[in-house]
Amino acid sequence: MKRAIRVTVNGVPHARDADVRSTLADFVREDLDLTGTHVGCEHGVCGACTVLLDGEPVRACLMLAVQADGRAITTIEGIAPGDGLHPVQEAFWGKHGLQCGYCTPGIIVSVCAFLEEHPTPTHEEIREMLAGHLCRCTGYHFIVEAIAEAARSLASSQKA
Ligand code: FES
Ligand code: FES
Repeated sequence: MKRAIRVTVNGVPHARDADVRSTLADFVREDLDLTGTHVGCEHGVCGACTVLLDGEPVRACLMLAVQADGRAITTIEGIAPGDGLHPVQEAFWGKHGLQCGYCTPGIIVSVCAFLEEHPTPTHEEIREMLAGHLCRCTGYHFIVEAIAEAARSLASSQKA
């Protein structure tokens, strides 16, 4: 069974008939072709599927697409302004904060929201935030370094 929904994704309005059983993760990947949102555990544990719903991070595998009706969603594809990289993406690139990259879109989306609320985070606060994300490759050290670098970069760009 399908239901008509309207969502704004990365600033673009969409009106679609969504399967009532489709998760938000499957909807953005399969209906909107935004495959940067990854699906790992499908149980709300790994954080790979994180997107922003009205600016707040949510697990897109735990939400139905129809529950997002009328809301604004930001996926990893909508994080950067224009064609360049977002400062958080630049920091992950520069500090080697990824290896296979499977966890990376979800972490970066979460970090963008986290740094809005914690513009000068301690390493402990960063590690606490990362508790909601599983990375099987990096051991987290370089991810923490990348987030700290992103915070510095955003702070200096706001001063300029
Ligand atoms: S796929 Fe959603 S939390 Fe793991
Ligand atoms: S970089 Fe491979 S899972 Fe995190």
